Amino acid sequence: MTRQIVSVIGDSEAVSGTVYESINPARPDEIVASVMLADAGTFAGACRTAAAAQREWARVPAPVRGRVIASIGRLVEANTEALARLVTEEIGKPYAEALGEVREIVDTCDFFLGEGRRLYGQTVPSEMPDKSLFTFRVPVGVAAIVTAGNFPVAVPSWYLVPALLCGNAVVWKPAEYAAASAHALYRLLAAAGLPPGVLNIVFASGADTYAGLDSALGEGTVHKVGFTGSSEVGRKIGELCGRHLQSPCLELGGKNPMVVMPDADLDLAVEGALFSGFGTAGQRCTSLGTVIVHEDVHDEFLGRFAEAVRNAKIGDPNGDVLYGPLLDHRFAERYEEYLTWVRPHHTVLPGPTGRMDGTGLYYHPVIVDGVRPDDRLFLEETFGPIVGVTTFGTLDEAIELANRPGYGLSSSIYTTDPRAAFRFRSGISAGMVSVNNSTSGAEAHLPFGGNGRSGNGSRQSGMWVLDQFTRWQAMNWDYSGRLQKAQMDVAEITPDLGFRL
Ligand code: UN1
Repeated sequence: MTRQIVSVIGDSEAVSGTVYESINPARPDEIVASVMLADAGTFAGACRTAAAAQREWARVPAPVRGRVIASIGRLVEANTEALARLVTEEIGKPYAEALGEVREIVDTCDFFLGEGRRLYGQTVPSEMPDKSLFTFRVPVGVAAIVTAGNFPVAVPSWYLVPALLCGNAVVWKPAEYAAASAHALYRLLAAAGLPPGVLNIVFASGADTYAGLDSALGEGTVHKVGFTGSSEVGRKIGELCGRHLQSPCLELGGKNPMVVMPDADLDLAVEGALFSGFGTAGQRCTSLGTVIVHEDVHDEFLGRFAEAVRNAKIGDPNGDVLYGPLLDHRFAERYEEYLTWVRPHHTVLPGPTGRMDGTGLYYHPVIVDGVRPDDRLFLEETFGPIVGVTTFGTLDEAIELANRPGYGLSSSIYTTDPRAAFRFRSGISAGMVSVNNSTSGAEAHLPFGGNGRSGNGSRQSGMWVLDQFTRWQAMNWDYSGRLQKAQMDVAEITPDLGFRL
Protein backbone atom coordinates (compact mmCIF):
# COMPACT_ATOMS: atom_id res chain seq x y z
CA MET A 1 0.00 0.00 0.00
CA THR A 2 1.29 3.47 -0.87
CA ARG A 3 2.34 5.55 2.12
CA GLN A 4 0.22 8.66 2.73
CA ILE A 5 2.37 11.51 3.96
CA VAL A 6 1.27 14.85 5.34
CA SER A 7 2.91 17.81 7.04
CA VAL A 8 3.10 17.77 10.83
CA ILE A 9 2.81 21.11 12.63
CA GLY A 10 2.82 21.09 16.40
CA ASP A 11 0.93 17.96 17.29
CA SER A 12 -1.48 18.07 14.37
CA GLU A 13 -1.36 16.87 10.80
CA ALA A 14 -2.12 19.25 7.94
CA VAL A 15 -4.40 17.09 5.84
CA SER A 16 -5.47 19.45 3.05
CA GLY A 17 -3.52 20.41 -0.05
CA THR A 18 -2.54 19.07 -3.43
CA VAL A 19 -1.22 15.56 -3.93
CA TYR A 20 2.33 14.85 -5.14
CA GLU A 21 3.54 11.34 -5.87
CA SER A 22 7.08 10.43 -4.90
CA ILE A 23 8.24 7.61 -7.16
CA ASN A 24 10.88 4.90 -7.10
CA PRO A 25 13.34 6.05 -9.82
CA ALA A 26 14.47 2.47 -10.44
CA ARG A 27 10.84 1.59 -11.27
CA PRO A 28 9.12 4.91 -11.98
CA ASP A 29 5.66 3.32 -12.15
CA GLU A 30 5.96 2.48 -8.47
CA ILE A 31 4.73 5.18 -6.11
CA VAL A 32 6.70 5.25 -2.86
CA ALA A 33 4.52 7.85 -1.18
CA SER A 34 1.57 10.03 -1.86
CA VAL A 35 2.44 13.40 -0.37
CA MET A 36 0.01 16.16 0.55
CA LEU A 37 1.61 19.48 -0.34
CA ALA A 38 0.68 22.37 1.94
CA ASP A 39 0.22 25.98 0.82
CA ALA A 40 2.15 29.13 1.71
CA GLY A 41 -0.25 29.98 4.55
CA THR A 42 0.33 26.59 6.16
CA PHE A 43 4.08 27.14 5.96
CA ALA A 44 3.78 30.53 7.64
CA GLY A 45 1.47 28.98 10.26
CA ALA A 46 4.10 26.35 11.03
CA CYS A 47 6.60 29.14 11.66
CA ARG A 48 4.19 30.73 14.18
CA THR A 49 3.77 27.37 15.93
CA ALA A 50 7.54 26.96 16.04
CA ALA A 51 8.03 30.47 17.44
CA ALA A 52 5.56 29.75 20.26
CA ALA A 53 7.25 26.43 21.13
CA GLN A 54 10.79 27.79 20.96
CA ARG A 55 10.67 29.85 24.16
CA GLU A 56 10.11 26.78 26.37
CA TRP A 57 12.61 24.67 24.43
CA ALA A 58 15.31 27.30 24.95
CA ARG A 59 14.66 27.07 28.71
CA VAL A 60 15.46 23.35 28.75
CA PRO A 61 19.08 23.14 29.98
CA ALA A 62 21.50 22.51 27.12
CA PRO A 63 22.83 19.25 28.66
CA VAL A 64 19.24 17.95 28.73
CA ARG A 65 18.78 18.94 25.08
CA GLY A 66 22.05 17.08 24.47
CA ARG A 67 20.45 13.94 25.93
CA VAL A 68 17.63 14.30 23.40
CA ILE A 69 20.24 14.43 20.64
CA ALA A 70 21.80 11.28 22.13
CA SER A 71 18.40 9.57 21.92
CA ILE A 72 18.01 10.66 18.29
CA GLY A 73 21.37 9.06 17.50
CA ARG A 74 20.35 5.82 19.19
CA LEU A 75 16.97 5.72 17.46
CA VAL A 76 18.53 6.37 14.06
CA GLU A 77 21.15 3.71 14.67
CA ALA A 78 18.54 1.16 15.74
CA ASN A 79 16.54 1.90 12.56
CA THR A 80 19.53 2.01 10.21
CA GLU A 81 18.46 -0.71 7.79
CA ALA A 82 14.85 0.43 7.51
CA LEU A 83 15.85 4.04 6.88
CA ALA A 84 18.59 3.13 4.39
CA ARG A 85 16.23 0.80 2.47
CA LEU A 86 13.71 3.59 2.20
CA VAL A 87 16.35 6.02 0.90
CA THR A 88 17.37 3.45 -1.71
CA GLU A 89 13.78 2.88 -2.73
CA GLU A 90 12.88 6.53 -2.97
CA ILE A 91 15.92 8.16 -4.59
CA GLY A 92 17.82 5.18 -6.00
CA LYS A 93 20.95 5.64 -3.90
CA PRO A 94 22.94 2.38 -3.76
CA TYR A 95 22.22 0.64 -0.47
CA ALA A 96 25.85 0.74 0.72
CA GLU A 97 25.86 4.52 0.25
CA ALA A 98 22.45 4.81 1.91
CA LEU A 99 23.88 3.01 4.94
CA GLY A 100 26.75 5.53 4.91
CA GLU A 101 24.24 8.35 4.75
CA VAL A 102 22.43 7.05 7.84
CA ARG A 103 25.80 6.66 9.57
CA GLU A 104 26.44 10.35 8.91
CA ILE A 105 23.36 11.23 11.00
CA VAL A 106 24.62 9.10 13.89
CA ASP A 107 28.07 10.74 13.61
CA THR A 108 26.42 14.15 13.73
CA CYS A 109 24.45 13.18 16.85
CA ASP A 110 27.61 11.76 18.45
CA PHE A 111 29.30 15.11 17.96
CA PHE A 112 26.46 17.31 19.20
CA LEU A 113 25.28 15.30 22.18
CA GLY A 114 28.51 16.41 23.92
CA GLU A 115 28.06 19.98 22.75
CA GLY A 116 25.08 20.12 25.11
CA ARG A 117 27.59 20.05 27.96
CA ARG A 118 29.88 22.60 26.31
CA LEU A 119 28.14 25.30 24.30
CA TYR A 120 30.81 27.43 25.89
CA GLY A 121 30.71 31.13 26.43
CA GLN A 122 33.75 33.07 27.66
CA THR A 123 34.82 35.16 30.58
CA VAL A 124 36.80 38.14 29.31
CA PRO A 125 38.96 40.57 31.34
CA SER A 126 37.63 44.10 31.62
CA GLU A 127 39.78 47.21 31.19
CA MET A 128 38.50 48.37 34.59
CA PRO A 129 38.65 46.90 38.10
CA ASP A 130 35.58 45.35 39.73
CA LYS A 131 33.97 44.70 36.40
CA SER A 132 33.59 41.40 34.55
CA LEU A 133 32.81 40.63 30.93
CA PHE A 134 31.11 37.50 29.58
CA THR A 135 29.88 36.07 26.32
CA PHE A 136 26.90 33.76 25.89
CA ARG A 137 25.63 31.77 22.93
CA VAL A 138 21.95 32.57 22.44
CA PRO A 139 19.70 30.49 20.16
CA VAL A 140 18.58 32.41 17.06
CA GLY A 141 14.90 31.44 17.47
CA VAL A 142 13.17 29.62 14.62
CA ALA A 143 15.20 28.04 11.85
CA ALA A 144 13.45 27.37 8.53
CA ILE A 145 15.37 24.57 6.83
CA VAL A 146 14.86 23.80 3.13
CA THR A 147 16.73 20.76 1.90
CA ALA A 148 17.47 18.84 -1.31
CA GLY A 149 16.75 15.15 -1.80
CA ASN A 150 20.12 13.77 -2.96
CA PHE A 151 21.06 13.39 0.70
CA PRO A 152 17.49 13.20 2.02
CA VAL A 153 18.39 12.45 5.63
CA ALA A 154 22.10 13.12 6.29
CA VAL A 155 22.31 16.69 5.04
CA PRO A 156 19.06 17.70 6.82
CA SER A 157 20.55 16.29 10.04
CA TRP A 158 23.48 18.71 9.67
CA TYR A 159 20.94 21.49 10.20
CA LEU A 160 18.33 19.89 12.44
CA VAL A 161 20.64 18.38 15.06
CA PRO A 162 22.71 21.49 15.89
CA ALA A 163 19.71 23.82 15.50
CA LEU A 164 17.73 21.83 18.09
CA LEU A 165 20.71 21.35 20.38
CA CYS A 166 21.27 25.10 20.48
CA GLY A 167 17.69 25.69 21.65
CA ASN A 168 15.99 26.64 18.39
CA ALA A 169 12.70 25.42 16.99
CA VAL A 170 12.66 24.23 13.39
CA VAL A 171 10.34 24.21 10.40
CA TRP A 172 11.76 21.71 7.91
CA LYS A 173 10.73 21.70 4.26
CA PRO A 174 12.30 18.67 2.57
CA ALA A 175 12.36 17.92 -1.17
CA GLU A 176 9.05 16.47 -2.36
CA TYR A 177 10.73 13.66 -4.32
CA ALA A 178 12.37 12.47 -1.08
CA ALA A 179 9.36 13.04 1.18
CA ALA A 180 9.03 9.49 2.54
CA SER A 181 12.68 9.40 3.66
CA ALA A 182 12.35 12.83 5.26
CA HIS A 183 9.12 11.86 7.00
CA ALA A 184 10.78 8.74 8.41
CA LEU A 185 13.62 10.84 9.83
CA TYR A 186 11.09 13.29 11.25
CA ARG A 187 9.36 10.41 13.08
CA LEU A 188 12.66 9.23 14.56
CA LEU A 189 13.41 12.74 15.84
CA ALA A 190 9.91 13.07 17.27
CA ALA A 191 10.26 9.69 19.02
CA ALA A 192 13.26 11.09 20.92
CA GLY A 193 10.81 13.22 22.90
CA LEU A 194 10.94 16.66 21.30
CA PRO A 195 8.00 18.71 22.64
CA PRO A 196 5.28 19.46 20.03
CA GLY A 197 6.05 22.43 17.80
CA VAL A 198 9.81 22.30 18.37
CA LEU A 199 10.28 20.39 15.11
CA ASN A 200 7.71 20.76 12.34
CA ILE A 201 7.80 19.22 8.90
CA VAL A 202 6.06 20.91 5.99
CA PHE A 203 5.79 19.46 2.50
CA ALA A 204 5.28 22.21 -0.05
CA SER A 205 6.25 23.27 -3.56
CA GLY A 206 9.18 25.63 -4.05
CA ALA A 207 6.87 28.55 -4.91
CA ASP A 208 4.67 28.05 -1.83
CA THR A 209 7.72 27.67 0.39
CA TYR A 210 9.14 30.93 -0.94
CA ALA A 211 5.85 32.76 -0.39
CA GLY A 212 5.41 31.23 3.08
CA LEU A 213 8.96 32.15 4.00
CA ASP A 214 8.45 35.70 2.78
CA SER A 215 5.44 36.21 5.06
CA ALA A 216 7.07 34.43 8.02
CA LEU A 217 10.16 36.62 7.71
CA GLY A 218 7.85 39.64 7.59
CA GLU A 219 5.97 38.48 10.69
CA GLY A 220 9.25 37.92 12.53
CA THR A 221 8.68 34.20 13.10
CA VAL A 222 11.79 32.98 11.23
CA HIS A 223 15.24 34.01 12.36
CA LYS A 224 17.52 31.80 10.32
CA VAL A 225 17.08 30.15 6.95
CA GLY A 226 19.14 27.13 5.99
CA PHE A 227 19.06 26.08 2.36
CA THR A 228 20.75 23.27 0.46
CA GLY A 229 20.11 23.22 -3.28
CA SER A 230 20.92 24.96 -6.54
CA SER A 231 22.87 28.20 -6.84
CA GLU A 232 19.92 29.69 -8.72
CA VAL A 233 17.40 29.13 -5.90
CA GLY A 234 20.06 29.97 -3.31
CA ARG A 235 20.46 33.39 -4.89
CA LYS A 236 16.69 34.02 -4.58
CA ILE A 237 16.66 32.90 -0.95
CA GLY A 238 19.70 35.06 -0.25
CA GLU A 239 17.92 38.09 -1.73
CA LEU A 240 14.77 37.40 0.26
CA CYS A 241 16.68 37.01 3.52
CA GLY A 242 18.74 40.13 2.76
CA ARG A 243 15.55 42.17 2.47
CA HIS A 244 14.69 41.04 6.00
CA LEU A 245 18.23 41.77 7.24
CA GLN A 246 19.06 38.12 7.67
CA SER A 247 22.02 36.09 6.50
CA PRO A 248 20.99 32.57 5.53
CA CYS A 249 23.14 29.47 5.61
CA LEU A 250 23.45 28.56 1.92
CA GLU A 251 24.91 25.28 0.74
CA LEU A 252 24.74 25.38 -3.06
CA GLY A 253 26.11 23.70 -6.15
CA GLY A 254 29.65 22.92 -7.14
CA LYS A 255 31.83 22.44 -10.20
CA ASN A 256 34.47 20.60 -8.28
CA PRO A 257 37.89 20.26 -9.91
CA MET A 258 40.38 17.43 -9.55
CA VAL A 259 43.97 18.29 -10.51
CA VAL A 260 46.17 15.35 -11.50
CA MET A 261 49.87 16.24 -11.34
CA PRO A 262 52.47 14.43 -13.45
CA ASP A 263 53.87 12.75 -10.30
CA ALA A 264 50.48 11.43 -9.16
CA ASP A 265 49.71 7.79 -8.48
CA LEU A 266 47.46 7.42 -11.52
CA ASP A 267 45.60 4.34 -10.32
CA LEU A 268 44.69 6.16 -7.13
CA ALA A 269 43.60 9.21 -9.13
CA VAL A 270 41.43 7.04 -11.39
CA GLU A 271 39.80 5.39 -8.38
CA GLY A 272 39.10 8.83 -6.88
CA ALA A 273 37.75 10.20 -10.16
CA LEU A 274 35.49 7.18 -10.62
CA PHE A 275 33.95 7.50 -7.17
CA SER A 276 33.67 11.28 -7.08
CA GLY A 277 32.51 11.60 -10.69
CA PHE A 278 30.10 8.71 -10.92
CA GLY A 279 29.34 7.56 -7.37
CA THR A 280 25.81 8.65 -6.39
CA ALA A 281 25.39 9.04 -10.20
CA GLY A 282 27.33 12.30 -9.92
CA GLN A 283 24.49 13.79 -7.88
CA ARG A 284 26.41 15.14 -4.90
CA CYS A 285 27.12 18.80 -4.56
CA THR A 286 30.67 17.58 -3.98
CA SER A 287 30.76 15.43 -7.15
CA LEU A 288 33.68 15.81 -9.52
CA GLY A 289 33.05 18.30 -12.33
CA THR A 290 36.29 18.49 -14.32
CA VAL A 291 39.53 16.54 -14.19
CA ILE A 292 42.40 18.94 -14.88
CA VAL A 293 45.20 16.59 -15.79
CA HIS A 294 48.82 17.41 -16.65
CA GLU A 295 49.46 17.15 -20.40
CA ASP A 296 52.25 14.56 -19.91
CA VAL A 297 49.93 12.06 -18.21
CA HIS A 298 46.66 12.97 -19.93
CA ASP A 299 46.55 10.03 -22.36
CA GLU A 300 47.53 7.47 -19.76
CA PHE A 301 45.06 8.83 -17.20
CA LEU A 302 42.22 9.07 -19.70
CA GLY A 303 42.78 5.52 -20.97
CA ARG A 304 42.67 4.09 -17.45
CA PHE A 305 39.74 6.29 -16.42
CA ALA A 306 37.65 5.29 -19.45
CA GLU A 307 38.48 1.64 -18.78
CA ALA A 308 37.37 1.93 -15.13
CA VAL A 309 34.13 3.62 -16.17
CA ARG A 310 33.49 0.98 -18.85
CA ASN A 311 33.87 -1.76 -16.22
CA ALA A 312 31.69 -0.06 -13.62
CA LYS A 313 28.43 -1.70 -12.68
CA ILE A 314 25.35 0.47 -13.00
CA GLY A 315 21.92 -0.82 -12.10
CA ASP A 316 19.63 -1.93 -9.29
CA PRO A 317 20.65 0.19 -6.28
CA ASN A 318 19.93 -2.74 -3.97
CA GLY A 319 22.86 -4.55 -5.56
CA ASP A 320 26.59 -3.91 -5.51
CA VAL A 321 26.72 -1.11 -8.09
CA LEU A 322 28.66 2.10 -8.62
CA TYR A 323 25.43 3.94 -9.15
CA GLY A 324 21.73 3.48 -9.68
CA PRO A 325 19.09 5.65 -11.32
CA LEU A 326 18.91 9.44 -11.24
CA LEU A 327 16.91 10.87 -8.34
CA ASP A 328 13.68 11.67 -10.12
CA HIS A 329 12.17 12.54 -13.52
CA ARG A 330 13.05 16.20 -13.23
CA PHE A 331 16.74 15.39 -12.62
CA ALA A 332 16.73 13.01 -15.58
CA GLU A 333 15.27 15.74 -17.81
CA ARG A 334 17.81 18.29 -16.65
CA TYR A 335 20.63 15.81 -17.14
CA GLU A 336 19.50 15.21 -20.74
CA GLU A 337 19.82 18.93 -21.27
CA TYR A 338 23.43 18.90 -20.00
CA LEU A 339 24.21 16.26 -22.61
CA THR A 340 23.24 18.75 -25.33
CA TRP A 341 26.15 20.93 -24.19
CA VAL A 342 28.60 18.47 -25.81
CA ARG A 343 30.30 20.22 -28.77
CA PRO A 344 32.08 18.96 -31.91
CA HIS A 345 35.51 19.73 -30.39
CA HIS A 346 34.79 17.30 -27.54
CA THR A 347 35.62 13.60 -27.46
CA VAL A 348 33.02 11.50 -25.67
CA LEU A 349 34.05 8.29 -23.87
CA PRO A 350 33.65 5.41 -23.14
CA GLY A 351 30.55 4.57 -25.23
CA PRO A 352 26.88 5.35 -25.60
CA THR A 353 25.33 8.33 -23.85
CA GLY A 354 21.84 9.08 -22.56
CA ARG A 355 19.18 6.89 -21.05
CA MET A 356 19.77 3.15 -20.84
CA ASP A 357 17.18 0.73 -22.15
CA GLY A 358 14.41 -0.13 -19.74
CA THR A 359 12.02 1.83 -17.56
CA GLY A 360 14.32 2.94 -14.72
CA LEU A 361 15.92 6.38 -14.81
CA TYR A 362 19.33 4.86 -15.54
CA TYR A 363 21.86 6.84 -17.58
CA HIS A 364 25.15 5.90 -19.23
CA PRO A 365 28.29 7.39 -17.65
CA VAL A 366 29.94 10.00 -19.85
CA ILE A 367 33.49 11.36 -19.93
CA VAL A 368 33.94 14.43 -22.11
CA ASP A 369 37.56 14.98 -23.07
CA GLY A 370 38.86 18.25 -24.52
CA VAL A 371 36.62 20.64 -22.61
CA ARG A 372 37.78 24.23 -22.93
CA PRO A 373 37.61 27.03 -20.35
CA ASP A 374 34.75 28.80 -22.14
CA ASP A 375 32.58 25.71 -22.61
CA ARG A 376 29.32 25.53 -20.78
CA LEU A 377 30.35 22.03 -19.71
CA PHE A 378 33.42 23.54 -18.06
CA LEU A 379 31.66 26.46 -16.37
CA GLU A 380 28.35 25.06 -15.11
CA GLU A 381 27.41 22.37 -12.62
CA THR A 382 26.13 19.26 -14.40
CA PHE A 383 24.38 17.23 -11.72
CA GLY A 384 24.61 13.67 -13.07
CA PRO A 385 27.04 11.05 -14.40
CA ILE A 386 29.18 13.28 -16.63
CA VAL A 387 32.78 14.37 -16.06
CA GLY A 388 34.86 16.76 -18.18
CA VAL A 389 38.58 16.42 -18.80
CA THR A 390 41.06 19.15 -19.72
CA THR A 391 44.83 19.59 -19.56
CA PHE A 392 47.36 21.99 -18.06
CA GLY A 393 51.08 22.71 -18.20
CA THR A 394 51.99 24.45 -14.92
CA LEU A 395 50.45 24.25 -11.44
CA ASP A 396 49.52 27.95 -11.60
CA GLU A 397 47.61 27.26 -14.78
CA ALA A 398 45.85 24.30 -13.12
CA ILE A 399 44.80 26.47 -10.17
CA GLU A 400 43.49 29.17 -12.50
CA LEU A 401 41.46 26.59 -14.41
CA ALA A 402 40.19 25.06 -11.17
CA ASN A 403 38.91 28.44 -9.93
CA ARG A 404 37.54 29.64 -13.23
CA PRO A 405 33.90 28.46 -12.98
CA GLY A 406 33.46 30.60 -9.88
CA TYR A 407 32.03 27.93 -7.62
CA GLY A 408 34.06 27.03 -4.56
CA LEU A 409 32.77 24.01 -2.69
CA SER A 410 35.17 21.10 -2.98
CA SER A 411 38.41 20.39 -4.84
CA SER A 412 41.10 17.76 -5.06
CA ILE A 413 44.72 17.32 -6.09
CA TYR A 414 46.59 14.10 -6.75
CA THR A 415 50.32 14.53 -6.24
CA THR A 416 53.25 13.10 -4.32
CA ASP A 417 54.81 16.54 -3.87
CA PRO A 418 53.86 18.28 -0.61
CA ARG A 419 54.79 21.67 -2.05
CA ALA A 420 52.27 21.23 -4.85
CA ALA A 421 49.60 20.14 -2.36
CA PHE A 422 50.09 23.22 -0.20
CA ARG A 423 50.39 25.63 -3.14
CA PHE A 424 47.13 24.21 -4.46
CA ARG A 425 45.50 24.60 -1.04
CA SER A 426 46.38 28.25 -0.76
CA GLY A 427 45.48 29.04 -4.38
CA ILE A 428 42.15 27.27 -4.63
CA SER A 429 38.97 29.17 -3.82
CA ALA A 430 37.12 26.10 -2.53
CA GLY A 431 35.98 25.65 1.06
CA MET A 432 37.22 22.05 1.00
CA VAL A 433 40.44 20.59 -0.37
CA SER A 434 41.30 16.90 -0.71
CA VAL A 435 44.83 15.65 -1.26
CA ASN A 436 45.02 12.24 -2.92
CA ASN A 437 41.34 11.75 -2.22
CA SER A 438 38.01 12.16 -3.94
CA THR A 439 36.21 15.54 -4.06
CA SER A 440 33.26 13.96 -2.25
CA GLY A 441 32.92 12.16 1.08
CA ALA A 442 33.58 14.89 3.62
CA GLU A 443 33.57 13.77 7.25
CA ALA A 444 30.75 14.99 9.46
CA HIS A 445 32.82 17.04 11.90
CA LEU A 446 34.87 19.27 9.61
CA PRO A 447 33.51 22.60 8.36
CA PHE A 448 31.41 21.96 5.26
CA GLY A 449 30.56 24.75 2.86
CA GLY A 450 31.66 26.83 -0.05
CA ASN A 451 32.36 30.22 -1.52
CA GLY A 452 31.26 32.09 -4.63
CA ARG A 453 28.49 30.30 -6.50
CA SER A 454 28.66 27.47 -3.93
CA GLY A 455 27.44 29.56 -1.02
CA ASN A 456 27.78 32.71 1.01
CA GLY A 457 30.65 31.52 3.17
CA SER A 458 28.49 29.90 5.84
CA ARG A 459 29.80 26.62 7.23
CA GLN A 460 27.97 23.59 8.49
CA SER A 461 29.13 20.71 10.68
CA GLY A 462 31.36 20.45 13.70
CA MET A 463 31.71 23.39 16.06
CA TRP A 464 31.63 25.82 13.12
CA VAL A 465 27.89 25.41 12.56
CA LEU A 466 27.22 26.74 16.08
CA ASP A 467 27.73 30.23 14.67
CA GLN A 468 24.75 29.62 12.36
CA PHE A 469 22.35 28.59 15.08
CA THR A 470 23.43 30.85 17.93
CA ARG A 471 24.25 34.51 18.22
CA TRP A 472 26.85 35.89 20.57
CA GLN A 473 25.58 38.02 23.39
CA ALA A 474 28.11 40.13 25.28
CA MET A 475 27.43 40.99 28.94
CA ASN A 476 29.35 43.32 31.23
CA TRP A 477 28.82 43.51 34.97
CA ASP A 478 30.19 46.39 36.97
CA TYR A 479 30.30 45.71 40.72
CA SER A 480 32.47 48.71 41.66
CA GLY A 481 29.44 50.67 42.86
CA ARG A 482 30.23 53.64 40.62
CA LEU A 483 29.95 54.47 36.94
CA GLN A 484 33.26 53.51 35.33
CA LYS A 485 33.35 54.87 31.81
CA ALA A 486 34.90 52.62 29.19
CA GLN A 487 37.93 54.13 27.42
CA MET A 488 37.88 57.09 29.83
CA ASP A 489 38.19 55.81 33.39
CA VAL A 490 41.01 53.44 32.55
CA ALA A 491 44.21 53.37 34.59
CA GLU A 492 47.31 54.19 32.62
CA ILE A 493 50.84 52.95 33.16
CA THR A 494 53.32 55.41 31.74
CA PRO A 495 56.21 53.89 29.80
CA ASP A 496 59.58 55.55 29.17
CA LEU A 497 59.39 55.31 25.38
CA GLY A 498 62.67 57.15 24.97
CA PHE A 499 64.52 54.35 26.70
CA ARG A 500 67.34 52.74 24.63
CA LEU A 501 69.97 50.15 25.53
C1 UN1 B 1 25.56 17.23 -0.74
O1 UN1 B 1 25.59 16.63 -1.82
O2 UN1 B 1 24.74 18.17 -0.55
O3 UN1 B 1 30.89 15.15 1.24
C2 UN1 B 1 26.40 16.89 0.43
C3 UN1 B 1 30.01 14.46 0.72
C4 UN1 B 1 28.81 14.11 1.54
C5 UN1 B 1 27.83 15.23 1.57
C6 UN1 B 1 27.39 15.77 0.24
N1 UN1 B 1 29.23 13.79 2.89
O4 UN1 B 1 30.09 14.05 -0.41
